[in-house]
Amino acid sequence: MNAFNLLSVLLFFFVIWLYFAPSDALNFDYHNEAELEVVLRNFTQTTKNINTKLYSIGKSTFRRTPLWVMQLSSVDKSRKMVPNIKFVANIHGNEAVGREMLLHFMEYLRDNYEKDNLVKCLLDNSNIHLLPCMNPDGFNVSIMGQCAGDHGRKNGENGETEDLNRNFPDKYHENRNPRQQETNALMKWMNDIPFILSAGLHGGAMVANYPYDTREIEISDDSKKKQPSETPDGDVFIHLSSVYASNHPQMKKIQCTTLNGNAPKFENGITNGAAWYSFQGGMQDYNYYKHGCMEVTLEISCCKYPMPKELPDLWEQNKKALLMYSLEALKGVSGQILDDVSKKPIGNAI
Ligand SMILES: *[C@@H]1O[C@H](CO)[C@@H](O)[C@H](O)[C@H]1NC(C)=O
Ligand SMILES: *[C@@H]1O[C@H](CO)[C@@H](O)[C@H](O)[C@H]1NC(C)=O
Ligand SMILES: [Zn+2]
Repeated sequence: MNAFNLLSVLLFFFVIWLYFAPSDALNFDYHNEAELEVVLRNFTQTTKNINTKLYSIGKSTFRRTPLWVMQLSSVDKSRKMVPNIKFVANIHGNEAVGREMLLHFMEYLRDNYEKDNLVKCLLDNSNIHLLPCMNPDGFNVSIMGQCAGDHGRKNGENGETEDLNRNFPDKYHENRNPRQQETNALMKWMNDIPFILSAGLHGGAMVANYPYDTREIEISDDSKKKQPSETPDGDVFIHLSSVYASNHPQMKKIQCTTLNGNAPKFENGITNGAAWYSFQGGMQDYNYYKHGCMEVTLEISCCKYPMPKELPDLWEQNKKALLMYSLEALKGVSGQILDDVSKKPIGNAI
């Protein structure tokens, strides 16, 4: 074969490859505040195969940045009692991976709706709400490449005001930390929409963590500090956390090393919150005890804010886990509890 023929053969295969190559429109890079909005607006404008809705649940405390949510679904409009699922990322401003994972998940669901029966089943039977960033103030001052530390973790000016994952009403204790706009926005959102399944995405560890984080009585004896603080649905939470950890190729294997060398050892990639370390005012506890929404906390990368070149791998690790976790919302028993006489639904039935 002479050089010219070889070139045309190569060119031919290149054109074929271009045609069939996955057309991931979203680049593997961090999207700043303005870019995030562009991506979300463009997504709703260009998506025709499923229903999308972009809405804001409130604004950040300091910079008044909208808290954007993308809702995805293809449920028949006439259907009642569709399960609502939510994912919340970037609660800690310097834990940025989840922010991009949710954007890729959004695109993945749309692009695979016709190709993958599980994606179709999920979108045909649920409403999925994605909040890529709960803490725009903190993210704004966070530094790419910074794997550890707390710079940008909180909200407000310089990301130094309040830790949003310590800012919710606690199940057992009074929370005296001043309630932030972001927290109020989340609380109102949960009041407005009856979510049943949720996950908060974090970084700095590799584990699926389930409620409670808080304890009724604080333990001062160090040897007993690893005792779990269980909910009445502990078995279901262990199952849900395991679904994520088992569908993630690294979560059961990797123990992140921390700066002080105290790497916690998790069995099977899951842990009860308080058994790891107990704290008050967390979001997952509030979801469960106030609304019966089952939320777990997903720690999905040892590095809190890795360089963009790590993002393709991180996405590969999380995409199946995000999908399989979401599908859990379609299991179990569902229905309405009605008053025998009036036949009207009874609120807060147990
Ligand atoms: C931080 O805020 C400034 C001012 O609004 C903006 O120009 C910049 O893009 C923001 N950075 C990020 C990472 O969102
Ligand atoms: C808008 O979305 C389309 C379809 O996903 C994509 O091809 C295009 O690159 C996007 N444009 C921008 C500016 O993000
Ligand atoms: Zn966190």
